[in-house]
Amino acid sequence: MFEKFAQLPADPILGLMAAFRTDTNPHKVDLGVGVYKDPTGNTPVLSAVKLAEQVCLDEETTKAYIGPAGDAGFNDAMTTVVFGAEALATQDDRIRTVQTPGGCGALRMAGELIKRALPNATMWVSDPTWAYHTPLFEGAGLTLKTYPYFDAQNGTVRFDDMMECLNQVKAGDVVLFHGCCHNPTGVDLSNAQWDEVVQLATKSEFLPFVDLAYQGFGDGLNEDAYGVRALAAQVPEMIVAVSCSKNFGLYRERTGAVMLVSPSSESANAALSQQLNIIRGNYSMPPAHGAAIVRIILADPKLREDWQTELKLMRDRIRDLRVLFADKMQQRGVERDFSFITRQKGMFSFLGISEQQVERLRTEYSIYIAPPSRINIAGINDANVDYLADAIASVL
Ligand code: LMR
Repeated sequence: MFEKFAQLPADPILGLMAAFRTDTNPHKVDLGVGVYKDPTGNTPVLSAVKLAEQVCLDEETTKAYIGPAGDAGFNDAMTTVVFGAEALATQDDRIRTVQTPGGCGALRMAGELIKRALPNATMWVSDPTWAYHTPLFEGAGLTLKTYPYFDAQNGTVRFDDMMECLNQVKAGDVVLFHGCCHNPTGVDLSNAQWDEVVQLATKSEFLPFVDLAYQGFGDGLNEDAYGVRALAAQVPEMIVAVSCSKNFGLYRERTGAVMLVSPSSESANAALSQQLNIIRGNYSMPPAHGAAIVRIILADPKLREDWQTELKLMRDRIRDLRVLFADKMQQRGVERDFSFITRQKGMFSFLGISEQQVERLRTEYSIYIAPPSRINIAGINDANVDYLADAIASVL
């Protein structure tokens, strides 16, 4: 059987990590996979996480199975982080959350739930969207189509085109939004634009699905949840997939959640039972450790404050790096105006350079950028920014 297989090319994002590791150029720069890096290029374990891990070690009394829904304390605490305590009080028991193995697990499990309920639905995703949305949802059996999103010329959202397209989406189709820090472009909807999306979603009756993988990396925890909360306040049904990889730095602990908003408490229970059944038939139940850490942090006022302080530090550092990088490009006197980078949010920006230029940066300068030209801003630091700006200026 195995002889029938052809060798697949390396993963477009994770393959860069492996290639970077084996590159012997001392000047190499990793702007590929979306992980936060500190000024020394390390991806740190947050100190709140370290402290919570100690509590976890001390308090853990069993390694017995946790069940398909995962950690109930984590699920409740994360639901509040996403929807906000005030909104939850008025949601009338319509939200059900289950812990998943990372944001990818949440996307895939929700995709399979959609397939079960709406086998012929089309899922509309932004053009462009995160490279792995396609295999995650197509793997669940969904058909994907794109709606206009990124205006590469101006580094903004093609909002009118997007709305015109979404206006045609039929009831029963699904529309995937990036809650904040759009991956790969860094270009987000404004609050006013979210309000228009909410109006349209209410009128058109498509199912909104929000991928909220970077909450806290844009403008703040509450600010970044504006779209999710505005939708939840108006639409009868929606799905949210969240990840604790970035905002808790728990990448390898695979900690995420899927949140289902249903029209009533009864339908919420029924949807939950279906979701749990799908999970049981896939990986049975999620790993416990990462969710226990998050639960402990969110339940302890001091740890929670430490975590929010560290999250703010990460957010502010990325914002500063955006300004630094744009300044350095301006100093190089290149024709292209890179100031759009300072207006974008989260870890990523789209450089808008050609595939050949991305390839030259890798082969001639050992600078690793995800296709088509997405850079992880957090990979920039004082030691590599001049080398990077020189290299980009030379390939432009
Ligand atoms: C990314 O987009 O780089 C991250 O979300 C990591 C991944 O899984 O690709």
